[in-house]
Amino acid sequence: MSTVPRNRRTSIPDIRARKGGEPLVCLTAYTTQMARLLDPHTDLLLVGDSLGMVLYGFDSTLPVTLDMMIAHGAAVMRGAGRACVIVDMPFGSYQESPQQAFRNAARIMAETGAGGVKLEGGEALAETTRFLAQRGIPVCAHVGLMPQAVNTAGGFRATGRSEAEARQVTRDAEAMAEAGAFAVVLEGTLEPVAAAITAALPVPTIGIGASPACDGQILVAEDVFGLFSDFTPRFVRRYADLGSQIATAAAEYAADVRARRFPGPEHCFLPKAAARSAG
Ligand code: KIV
Repeated sequence: MSTVPRNRRTSIPDIRARKGGEPLVCLTAYTTQMARLLDPHTDLLLVGDSLGMVLYGFDSTLPVTLDMMIAHGAAVMRGAGRACVIVDMPFGSYQESPQQAFRNAARIMAETGAGGVKLEGGEALAETTRFLAQRGIPVCAHVGLMPQAVNTAGGFRATGRSEAEARQVTRDAEAMAEAGAFAVVLEGTLEPVAAAITAALPVPTIGIGASPACDGQILVAEDVFGLFSDFTPRFVRRYADLGSQIATAAAEYAADVRARRFPGPEHCFLPKAAARSAG
């Protein structure tokens, strides 16, 4: 159970204070209805730019725009009353300069009401993170496997296998924490490396494919509920198979419509007299 009273929203200091405590429960949400369903069970809801792949069918997160993130961020805020809501900054909206990042992060904060933003990048984005954090924008860092860097990395693969990779992801996480990030998402990072980073950082680490050593866990909700694809990545545990339930329900609906079994009399609007004699 979260220590935050149910009648108020989890704040950034609440998240920060969970370092080394009860693991943070985090999931992605992109819509009001999903936010409503997940809010009672989570500490943090991330409006991830993974929505580009999950909702919009893109091959990567790169085509996601700031306007898309703002629309989905505002939708999630309408559904969540308790969880801390964080919105991803999409590719191209923050890498150019701290000023560009501030302008776009300020739009996200003002137009969604979210508690903070997340951006991908380590050492190279530390100056930007400091600039935002010092100007009232809470930043969650995202290091390790960084999906927005899919083209430079040559694909989506776990990091930390070589000494050099382990050193780089450690430096990235430390630089972002030192710059003022309130938490660090560690994606696709080898367990011993994630454990060492978690032990070293003063802020919570939130793992995705980064072992139980992290201070919290995050997954894409559609992966957890079997709503995205038939492929389940190694780091996901599927807790439901809603995709096949939807397919079965759609097939039953189609069969009923074709056989004129739906709509039934109870779904029809009848003239008053006819309704009285039917009832
Ligand atoms: O975009 C996203 O959903 C994410 C999480 C998976 C961490 O960055």
